[in-house]
Amino acid sequence: MKFDFMYYNPTKIYFGRNAMDNLAEELSGYGDTVLLAYGKSAIKRIGLYDKVVDILKACGKTIVELEGIKPNPSYAQVMEGARLVRENHVQLILAVGGGSVVDCAKAISVAAYCEEEPWEKYWIREEAVENPIVPVASILTMTGTGSEMNGGSVITNEEQMLKMGRVFPAEVYPRFSILNPEYTYSVPKYQMVSGIYDIFQHLLEQYFSGDDDNTTDYLIEGVLASLIGSARAALRDPEDYEARSNIMWCATLGLNTITGLSKAQDWEVHMIEHQIGAYTDCAHGAGLAITAIPYYKYIWPFGAEKFVRFAKNVWGIDVSSLTQEEAALAGIEKLSDFIKELGLPTTLREVGTTEEMLPLIAESTVLGGGYKQMTPPEILEILKACY
Ligand code: NZQ
Ligand code: ZN
Repeated sequence: MKFDFMYYNPTKIYFGRNAMDNLAEELSGYGDTVLLAYGKSAIKRIGLYDKVVDILKACGKTIVELEGIKPNPSYAQVMEGARLVRENHVQLILAVGGGSVVDCAKAISVAAYCEEEPWEKYWIREEAVENPIVPVASILTMTGTGSEMNGGSVITNEEQMLKMGRVFPAEVYPRFSILNPEYTYSVPKYQMVSGIYDIFQHLLEQYFSGDDDNTTDYLIEGVLASLIGSARAALRDPEDYEARSNIMWCATLGLNTITGLSKAQDWEVHMIEHQIGAYTDCAHGAGLAITAIPYYKYIWPFGAEKFVRFAKNVWGIDVSSLTQEEAALAGIEKLSDFIKELGLPTTLREVGTTEEMLPLIAESTVLGGGYKQMTPPEILEILKACY
């Protein structure tokens, strides 16, 4: 563990079939008015909306609703939620849904009492939060993002064609999150595999940096082993409780900062995907799956040792008789096979990207990188390889 770190995560997790039993008691810690934030229709279809509303009413809460939060939540919806919070003096934002709903709730929390333009202040200039915030809590129905236990909030400004993420400090993290794997049974297969790949990619963004002997890397390899096995089991039987619960917890561990401790980290695949998402509105995990293979084929020489370790420790490849290049590429090939096994798209065309969009995406992508500082022309080459 070469780099110093501070670890603190304030989110209380209730996990399992009976997790909802804790909602009423948790609600007693907050004021009377709750903003119930949710997506388009899933929580009504699975009966969760009625259950939550019943508990809120039994606790004497006044419910204000923000419905229809879209996947890749928009800034316009954030501002609508912020208005509802101010006008109704909301004291808790309860997000019921996937990462988009939870991300939107955090954005509303910081935007409601912000005296400047929140987009510019928080997502462009990434300034500190000085205005009062409204506490957020979540009931998760779709796994992948880790938003249930982190400060991440990824918002799409549709006017500016920018999808920007940032990490807010601990007070914006959900105060508590209710994780019942059974709520994820109804997630359509395409969304389920997108979420699984999102988890995979979070772990890789943290893994592919540094070549030291870091405990965090062993932890990531362990979580990946669980994720690969559980993903296969969930594909065979979406109602396999053990598989769905493992996937749910892998997602939380994958981005609650514990699998990034003392790591430099990469995140370039995410930065590219965010702009693909801004132009196409594709499912986040699907965009990541498309981008990852060309990106890793390009950067592996800059972090060759780690790519060999990935082949050996994650995919169980016997690298003893392989050259460094053969071993690194064999590991990337296994990742590519796994993406295909999940049934995810592998080209940008499949998610509606046009050739004209490629330079626009390349120019607007936030640049970073783990082993290699990326440039717009390099991003464009990677996009062409994904096309
Ligand atoms: O709109 P509803 O009806 O709720 O349907 C949703 C949505 O269409 C559906 N769904 C959710 N739970 C369901 C269900 N359908 C049936 N049964 C259920 N139980 O699934 C669809 C996708 O939901 P969404 O919330 O968009 O998915 P996800 O959790 O993957 O969130 C994606 C967003 O999170 C951001 C992404 O960029 C994207 O905007 N991210 C957030 C991060 C963070 N906060 O740290 C990090 C990630 O890397 C990511 O960037
Ligand atoms: Zn992600």
